[in-house]
Amino acid sequence: LDELPCVETDVMVIGAGIAGLFTTIRASESNRVLIITKPKSLLESNTRYAQGGIAAVISDEDSPDYHRQDTLIAGAGLCDPEAVDILVHEGPAGVQDLIRLGTQFDRENGELALTKEGAHSQRRILHAQGDATGAEIVRALSEKTKLNPNVTIWDDHFVIDLVTADNVCYGAIVQKPDGVRVYVKAKATILCSGGAGQLYRYTTNPEIATGDGIAMAYRAGAVVRDVEFIQFHPTALCYPGAPRFLISEAVRGEGAVLRNIRGERFMEKVHPQLELAPRDIVARAIVDEMEQTKSTFVYIDITHESPDMVKHRFPNIYEFCLNYGLDLTSDWIPVAPAAHYMMGGVKTDLNGETSVKRLYACGEVSSTGVHGANRLASNSLSEAIVYGRRIIEDIRTLDPIGSTPPIAERSHRPEHPMQPIVEKRLKLQKVMLRYVGLKRNAAGLGKGYDELKRQLPIYGTCLTKREEYEFANLLTLAMLTTEAALLREESRGGHYREDFPERDDFVWRKHIQLQRENGKT
Ligand code: SIN
Repeated sequence: LDELPCVETDVMVIGAGIAGLFTTIRASESNRVLIITKPKSLLESNTRYAQGGIAAVISDEDSPDYHRQDTLIAGAGLCDPEAVDILVHEGPAGVQDLIRLGTQFDRENGELALTKEGAHSQRRILHAQGDATGAEIVRALSEKTKLNPNVTIWDDHFVIDLVTADNVCYGAIVQKPDGVRVYVKAKATILCSGGAGQLYRYTTNPEIATGDGIAMAYRAGAVVRDVEFIQFHPTALCYPGAPRFLISEAVRGEGAVLRNIRGERFMEKVHPQLELAPRDIVARAIVDEMEQTKSTFVYIDITHESPDMVKHRFPNIYEFCLNYGLDLTSDWIPVAPAAHYMMGGVKTDLNGETSVKRLYACGEVSSTGVHGANRLASNSLSEAIVYGRRIIEDIRTLDPIGSTPPIAERSHRPEHPMQPIVEKRLKLQKVMLRYVGLKRNAAGLGKGYDELKRQLPIYGTCLTKREEYEFANLLTLAMLTTEAALLREESRGGHYREDFPERDDFVWRKHIQLQRENGKT
């Protein structure tokens, strides 16, 4: 066995989206912080692609009670009301933090500009550069992070596993770009590693969204909760040769309607909130319409609004579509649902701590209880800053960890013959889309689970490459999601069972929590 070199820091942050950058900056006020990210740049993360914005009570016409109510209704009976209260009351202060840290939200006549999205009763979505809110937040926070003398940045690094003993986290094993591994020891480890859109063939998430944090926390014995609830964004671009680029819900918030391929507006027959019904309802209505009209898409139509307004509010969406010959101001844009957000994740308490001591989770990787079975649009960026602030307060109470035993690994790690990992990943994504997608049933879920199980031998091999670890993480999460989806014999939020189409509050108003038994993969 070879002893791994040990690097010590006060706080280790894994991931560099809004949750990672924000907690890094706040933690650095009284700690040495090491932030680790897979991409080669702090600018690349799932946050960067967030368009619509960040929800917070800003307007005088709005109130925390309205925001609370909208969040609880969208969450379909599974939100933790206390976690939601915290979000709606502490959100505005979190937004002020972002502004202090240099984020420039759009303004109208000097006041913060607010838009509306699905299932919000009020205009409460702040945005930046029209439709590039995430990119602006990441720009501002990464600039502050880079200039911070208390912060060390390791980009292009991969966290393989957490180091735990007796249900306490002491840090993680990290692979450097040259393949060398080190043990990073920290008094607090904050998982900010985002979600897992890459579980599915069609997703709005970038390639890096492989659920690494949830999978490694599960391996470390943390409780994972609500992973059967997957949010499919109703309107991702669906055009030959184009990626599933997000057509923000804010486009519907500013008046766009949905039409089937016959040109008929169909949300009228589905929900009183029409195109701004909760996302799960709009996404399933689109799939129903696609099935009935034997089409692979529907249209989003904002051609009745002023072209100047459309270009001003959605400059990036307008430009992106134009690259494919689609003019948002005069064409109906073909769209279809795509995997967008995982409601569940690593269960935390109200201070962001997981069931493993000294291990925290923030942002999409976490399950704070805010989102229930279906996240209200634009609540995710708010959740990251609100719970990020709480984590930093909680960390203040932690003592240093003192000495820990050295970490060793096998000195000889043989390569192993494997089917190309790209093929395996694609197969997994197709299985998940087919059997664990927007509409599920027992037969399909069982079949999907069996197909996923065939990939299990990967855990018996010796992994070395980043793509292999990512695939193993995706496989862990795919199996957990499928298992939970099989268990939940009802329909609710982001989980719809064709064989149990009703919501069953009597039996199922409860969470499915999964925790690894010792020795089981
Ligand atoms: C969007 O702009 O539609 C995405 C916002 C979100 O997912 O919260």
